[in-house]
Amino acid sequence: MVIIFVNSAFLIACARIAGSMALFRLPGLIDPHVHLRDPGQTHKEDFFSGTTAALSGGFTTILDMPNNKIAITTEQLLKEKIAIAKGSIVADVGFYFGSMGDNLNEFPKVVDKVFGLKLYLNQTTGNLLINKNKLKSIFSAWGKTVRHLPILVHAENESLRSVLDVVKETKQNVHVCHVSTQADLALILREKESRLPISCGVTPHHLFLTEHDANVLGPFGKMKPPLAKRKDVDFLWKNLKAIDVVESDHAPHTRKEKLETTFGVTGLETTLPLLLTAVWEKRLNIDDIVRLCVTNPARIFGCQTDPNTHIEVDQSISYTIENRKLYTKCGWSPFANWRVKGKVRRVILRGKKVFEDGKGISVAKGSGRIIFPVPCAD
Ligand code: DOR
Ligand code: ZN
Repeated sequence: MVIIFVNSAFLIACARIAGSMALFRLPGLIDPHVHLRDPGQTHKEDFFSGTTAALSGGFTTILDMPNNKIAITTEQLLKEKIAIAKGSIVADVGFYFGSMGDNLNEFPKVVDKVFGLKLYLNQTTGNLLINKNKLKSIFSAWGKTVRHLPILVHAENESLRSVLDVVKETKQNVHVCHVSTQADLALILREKESRLPISCGVTPHHLFLTEHDANVLGPFGKMKPPLAKRKDVDFLWKNLKAIDVVESDHAPHTRKEKLETTFGVTGLETTLPLLLTAVWEKRLNIDDIVRLCVTNPARIFGCQTDPNTHIEVDQSISYTIENRKLYTKCGWSPFANWRVKGKVRRVILRGKKVFEDGKGISVAKGSGRIIFPVPCAD
């Protein structure tokens, strides 16, 4: 099997399919930020349901976060997670490692198995939360072990400033997850201009929803970071060209749990239709989708994709997002009842049709692959 890096040459492969003006072929999309909950909270999602949702939404490669019920902070826990995933996944899955600053000696043991280190500086699901005083030692230990793999941060407001100070000192590659406010994005853009090695992502919920929707959605509009003001959302759209990736932050919780205090919304099945609708509305174009959901995530996280993997989308089909049609185990979306234009028609994984018109054709457990980062001499 030939594996290539997705690069600009691959863009040329994005072609209209003969005979239809609206049917497009795109490379399989990469979502670099999902929470599949397996192991530990498989009543919310598991490797099979989560990767089936990914395929249904056009994502053939996803990178899974470490904030499991027992956070993935040791090689042993990572190995166990990989072993569970192996027999269950139907899309390709890679992993991140977590830290609270007390597992630095584990870094050398896992760097060949993960796409980056995730640090939480603000409240999230699970107990992976660090104090900013730990940043310097974690950054130094990670950088000494494997400089090229990024550190991903959940860092809002003041926490973001602390992270950027440490990036200035260490020059470590950092990816700032789910940027949601004008202030944070403006700061990141300034530092990018001064050539700090940072990238950033935005989520579909922060692009398509505001704090007004949070009022209407009630608990189903609660996530971290929270939905922002109209002016923040407008600023994200205005600067989309400078944003590196769209990441769903697919974070399933059951309906019952949402009525209690849980943060997070689903996203794997709604990201692409929302982006295609925005293309229809001329707010972005297909090349932007490929940049945000394929080429940039491949470059930033060093993930390889397979040239015989692609998706076909029809831009002319309008439909309504319905909870009952979702594959995510928790069965709800903050975008339920939204009318969208642009639908995933087919998903081809390594030359084999695996999804067609919302139905799994060949989604045998274990048919997805665990992916690992490309080794880099540094
Ligand atoms: O809303 C969120 N949910 N934000 C996070 O940072 C974590 C996620 C989750 O795991 O539920
Ligand atoms: Zn997340």
